[in-house]
Amino acid sequence: MKDTEYSKEWVDEVISKIKHKMDWVSDKSQHKIPYTTIDGIHDDRSGYNPSNDNADGICWWTNGFWGGMLWQMYYQTRETKYLEYASRVEEKLDGAFLKFHGLHHDVGFMWLPTSVASYMITGNLESYKRALLAANLLAGRYNPAGKFIRAWNDLPEPNTDTDTRGWAIIDCMFNIPLLYWATEATSDPRFKQIAMNHADTVMNTFVRPDGSVHHIVEFDPFNGEFIKAYGGQGYADDSSWTRGQTWGLYGFMMSYKHTDKQEYLDTAKRIAHYFIANIPDNAIIPIDFRQPQEPAYQDSTAAAIAACGLIEIAHVVHDFEKAMYLRAAVKLLKALDEQSIDWSDNCHCFLKNGSASYHSTQHHQSIIYGDYYFMEAMFKLKGNDLYFW
Ligand code: GLY
Repeated sequence: MKDTEYSKEWVDEVISKIKHKMDWVSDKSQHKIPYTTIDGIHDDRSGYNPSNDNADGICWWTNGFWGGMLWQMYYQTRETKYLEYASRVEEKLDGAFLKFHGLHHDVGFMWLPTSVASYMITGNLESYKRALLAANLLAGRYNPAGKFIRAWNDLPEPNTDTDTRGWAIIDCMFNIPLLYWATEATSDPRFKQIAMNHADTVMNTFVRPDGSVHHIVEFDPFNGEFIKAYGGQGYADDSSWTRGQTWGLYGFMMSYKHTDKQEYLDTAKRIAHYFIANIPDNAIIPIDFRQPQEPAYQDSTAAAIAACGLIEIAHVVHDFEKAMYLRAAVKLLKALDEQSIDWSDNCHCFLKNGSASYHSTQHHQSIIYGDYYFMEAMFKLKGNDLYFW
């Protein structure tokens, strides 16, 4: 960790503030699965709307992150309340399995931070079975002709192109670690084969020559041919949605960790170099690196995820390369600490200024995965995060 610009005192101070806040917020939200805050109070996505499997309830794609925060806290503190609250989240998620239609490729985001984390820490065989069930659902989304994992089920909106049989999205790089885990857990190579075929397809079709990545690529679901790329949650089709860059950056790093395939590390580094080159002087990350200057929309979640991926890259590169990645990660985390975090007792969230997508009506809100990845990044800097990806 030499030649970087952060002190052990700063890391310890931020972690102590995280622990203080999680202590009381976890008690308040122990019966919820939050996504955001409304007037400072966590909402709850653990319900179910029987008229719509796609409702933002128990099947909601972010429903693993609160459990992940609780497992990270248990790993740090060994306080049994965190284990109890995290196990409660995992049991609630069982409701999502039976809804089926509301489950998309996001099962990695949902069951890696919950069931895989639980199995790693406790050896609970119920958690093992849940994680394997989720991995089988993900493997079932594989398209062998195009060698990609289908992202979403058909979209419910009327009057739009709702046929998503050929759609893959960059975010899935965070779901395929569930497949690597399943092969490591069972010795059955099929899961890892699917994950690597998908990662290879993404490497060859999503990553542009300049190191930026597409959000969505559509393939012909029958013959696998490339059809077109979409801007998705970013500003435009040929733009550069920042959270998508981070799903690619850290996602390829995860694939490298599970496979040792050098091209995955090289790809993670290429995306990282593009990302680092675009970090503004104030380190406030926009929703899209190619958005107009005004309105100055930000996405704090992208900064937190990028920091995690950059620290992971720093761990595996040569000594002379480490400082560049660490320096960028610390710059992002310090900017979040100084400008985008609510450390007060008035709000259940940590990060403000998260944005789900450029064209949504709401921007600059708290989003649970921003909190999760900020926490993971700080524990990584400390050297003792729980790694379940
Ligand atoms: N996986 C969807 C998102 O990043 O918003």
